[in-house]
Amino acid sequence: MTTKTPSEAQPEGERVLIFDTTLRDGEQCPGATMTFEEKLEVADYLDQMGVDIIEAGFPIASEGDFEAVSAIAKRVKKATVAGLARAAEKDIDRAGEAVRNAVKPRIHTFISTSPVHMKYKLQKSAEEVLALVTKQCERARNLVPDVEWSAEDATRTEHDFLCRCVEAAIKAGATTINIPDTVGYTVPEEYYALFDMLRTRVPNADKAIFSTHCHNDLGMAVANSLAGLKGGARQIECTINGIGERAGNAALEEIVMAIRTRRDVLPFSTGIESTMLSRASKLVSAVTNFPVQYNKAIVGRNAFAHESGIHQDGMLKHIETYEIMTPESVGVAKTSLVMGKHSGRNAFRTKLKELGYDLGDNALEDAFTRFKALADRKKHVYDEDIEALVDEEIAHAHDRMKVVALTVIAGTMGPQMATLTLDIDGAQQTVQSTGNGPVDATFNAIKTMFPHEAKLLLYQVHAVTEGTDAQAEVSVRLEEEGRQVTGRGADTDTLVASARAYVAALNKLRIKRQKNAQAQQAV
Ligand code: KIV
Ligand code: ZN
Repeated sequence: MTTKTPSEAQPEGERVLIFDTTLRDGEQCPGATMTFEEKLEVADYLDQMGVDIIEAGFPIASEGDFEAVSAIAKRVKKATVAGLARAAEKDIDRAGEAVRNAVKPRIHTFISTSPVHMKYKLQKSAEEVLALVTKQCERARNLVPDVEWSAEDATRTEHDFLCRCVEAAIKAGATTINIPDTVGYTVPEEYYALFDMLRTRVPNADKAIFSTHCHNDLGMAVANSLAGLKGGARQIECTINGIGERAGNAALEEIVMAIRTRRDVLPFSTGIESTMLSRASKLVSAVTNFPVQYNKAIVGRNAFAHESGIHQDGMLKHIETYEIMTPESVGVAKTSLVMGKHSGRNAFRTKLKELGYDLGDNALEDAFTRFKALADRKKHVYDEDIEALVDEEIAHAHDRMKVVALTVIAGTMGPQMATLTLDIDGAQQTVQSTGNGPVDATFNAIKTMFPHEAKLLLYQVHAVTEGTDAQAEVSVRLEEEGRQVTGRGADTDTLVASARAYVAALNKLRIKRQKNAQAQQAV
């Protein structure tokens, strides 16, 4: 930008805490399972980016969740690490144990307060719930000094009762009070008024920080969160890419950039390094195998693309005609023709740095080998190609099942036949299968080696860049007993990308099965 926008000319506003729940509420979203290692990688990135509180998981839910929260608590350097707990002693104790080694540990405990939840879900009276609020906060506060209490379904709770619960929670030791719009029901004016009412009516309201937690069922999660700030909230709960239950949660990148871009009307600031947002989005998309819609605000592929002639003309005359923030401010590098088969390791390392990746030596070496193979097959290697390649590396690094080799006979003279070698838990197997087309033959081969009843809900292919030698990125979604998983694969060969995507989804399915079995044991 050549000149400062009116917003950038404003002084830094009051500090707002960013509470990221990608690893808890985000991971609950259908299809978005992460492995243990992927969770650690996301947590490290969130910490470096300046997130204030990382909600690392729900420790009582399964052994896997507990292990992940404990490991994140041990390694995170700056952020507070929170573990979620229902209003039950064993939940709270388990959460306390999981976050024990964090530099700044937090227990986040919740209970439903709306009439419909209390009657049908909890089957408890309002007085019983109120007594539990005190009990859960006291128990948590005996374990850690930082306790967050949430009134689940707060936006459909009677005001008098909500005031009594909030007062009791603060009295019992809660230091943060979260007012979730659990079902994405509220609208900005109403949510603003709710915070305003609580802060006015609850006698000890000044002893706690109030927090927003908005779901996006009516597409208002971000608007509602910002309205909550105006009403006095100073913590916002959100997720990268807005992933989360049903329509998702408020998107962290949208909140951060709205505050940064409209400081003139939103006089606040966050501790987030905004140039890391684009990479955060790509990382979460890669590890969850959950694609980001093209027109997604801030991090979508088209978020800074100007297609119409009128817009392009305006942009050439003065960039501010159609751009309210720069792509660089969110870490979007300009698309460029980067490297070819003669590019060396150093150039590749520098390029990765520019794109926001920080790979260890082994990961860098693997990525470089794949880059060389790609450069041999593809004339122009663009930034997007490198991102697809490295994201694929990150997403599949810890897979227990991997595609080793694939040969497919396709064309008009059927039957189409696939010869596939998979590595399953360290042992290689090869099979041959036929099918109704090359993709079907490939998927049948996978099914022969890893029998399952999961239903294929989605098979989608898109080109990473232009040209007939472009890499294909394939997404596959499977469903088994109501559980959904997504897998992605990229390669210049669409069939290899398809096999990788299907196998990636099956790897996630194995994790889901295991997690489910552990959760059932825990009940
Ligand atoms: O949406 C919700 O109410 C939640 C709580 C557990 C905070 O996620
Ligand atoms: Zn939620």
